[in-house]
Amino acid sequence: MDRQRGFMDRVAAMGGGRYEIVTYGCQMNARDSETLAGLLQQMGYEPARSREEATLILFNTCCVRDNAERRVFGNVGHLRARKREDPRLVVGVCGCMMQQDGAAERLLASAPFVDIVFGTGSLHRLPELLCQYLEEGRRQVLVETDARAPIAEGLPAVRQSGVQAFVNIMFGCDNFCSYCIVPYVRGRERSREPRDILHEAEQLAKAGVKEITLLGQNVNSYRASDGTGFPQLLRLLDGVVPRIRFMTSHPKDLSDELISAMAELPSVCKQLHLPVQSGSDAVLERMNRRYTAEKYLALVEKLREAMPGIGLSTDIIVGFPGETEQDFEATMELDRLARYDSAYTFLYSKRRGTRAAEMPDQVPEEIMKERIYRLIAQQEKITAEKLAAFVGTEQQVLVEGASTRDKKAWMGRTDSGIAVNLTGKDIRPGDMLQVKIESAGANTLRGRREE
Ligand code: 5AD
Ligand code: SF4
Repeated sequence: MDRQRGFMDRVAAMGGGRYEIVTYGCQMNARDSETLAGLLQQMGYEPARSREEATLILFNTCCVRDNAERRVFGNVGHLRARKREDPRLVVGVCGCMMQQDGAAERLLASAPFVDIVFGTGSLHRLPELLCQYLEEGRRQVLVETDARAPIAEGLPAVRQSGVQAFVNIMFGCDNFCSYCIVPYVRGRERSREPRDILHEAEQLAKAGVKEITLLGQNVNSYRASDGTGFPQLLRLLDGVVPRIRFMTSHPKDLSDELISAMAELPSVCKQLHLPVQSGSDAVLERMNRRYTAEKYLALVEKLREAMPGIGLSTDIIVGFPGETEQDFEATMELDRLARYDSAYTFLYSKRRGTRAAEMPDQVPEEIMKERIYRLIAQQEKITAEKLAAFVGTEQQVLVEGASTRDKKAWMGRTDSGIAVNLTGKDIRPGDMLQVKIESAGANTLRGRREE
């Protein structure tokens, strides 16, 4: 970071400006955008109140599915006319998509008005790129392809919320699920040191944060240089803030030790996001997931035995190459047996460079869509039944902020991760309240604070 300080000062001396960051994709990207905002603010930039006011617009991209990529190209393209009118506008594109083979070149060729391009591995070098662009007026491109690039520590961040914060514990992924681009764009697994994570959590607690979510593509394979594994990391962090969540977990690495740590530790929320992807063993095998439907369901049972009220969610891909009606039926059945609180369902999207892209029998789009609608309808019913069971109970809810739907209500979450809209007197973000659940909607609960 020291090398970047000089660049930061040089940019700040140019008088700053107003920025907008447009974020696509997962929580990792959302967290990266907080770092980008932190860096920009240290260079004298302030958040723009509208797109029109922005003097710098940065797109933090995703490439996990095809639609994310199309949206990025479309939205960047919209700036063409604006840049013609105002050549001082700085346009940057960064994130996963830029790490993908050929994507940066495609963007640079089709959008000559883009000034700065960098990948996830070069996030911390934004000051250098911006400084050189502003001083020299030449386009800056930096895509670090070293899959083992060291983790940059000590970066600033502007957090989205005062109550809840994301904390990276590791970067990259070594699993190479055959459909997934992440291992290619985010590189090999690298874990942060426990002391750096603890320090960040303590600083957040001091700033009033009540809940942290530990982030990694596969947190269960976290391993620090001193051998600390994920369950030990949870033990180290327990009590620093009232609530700790984490995502994502890979079923093949979910150990008994982790299940007991979750069950025992008071700060660790009883909630788990455990992507299953498919209920068919043949499909799971081709996906390189390294578990069977039976093993997965046994894990679910073990988790519910250790933590009866645990909130469970999943990711499911519909239409993986070669998926037959019978394979899909197996997914439907697994979804019924697991009884998830919620499921994120995705149409399979072919990613160039992955093994699945080369597989025969790609499933036609109409069939994929027809299947996903069936799955969504089934899961909606399960979600509704599970939410209805909360009506009349009392739940401990951490208030996160104002409800987006109803301006008079607040939004919080149960320990198991379910969103609750609540009303009552003298409520503030960060309050931990006993809430009587009065009704259930499609995805949320509604309640009143116990007087
Ligand atoms: N097509 C569809 N969904 C995908 N995911 C990852 N790669 C693809 C792909 N090529 C989904 C998986 C993963 C989630 C983050 O995105 O379900 O768990
Ligand atoms: Fe992609 Fe599989 Fe790694 Fe998740 S575990 S990021 S799906 S390769």
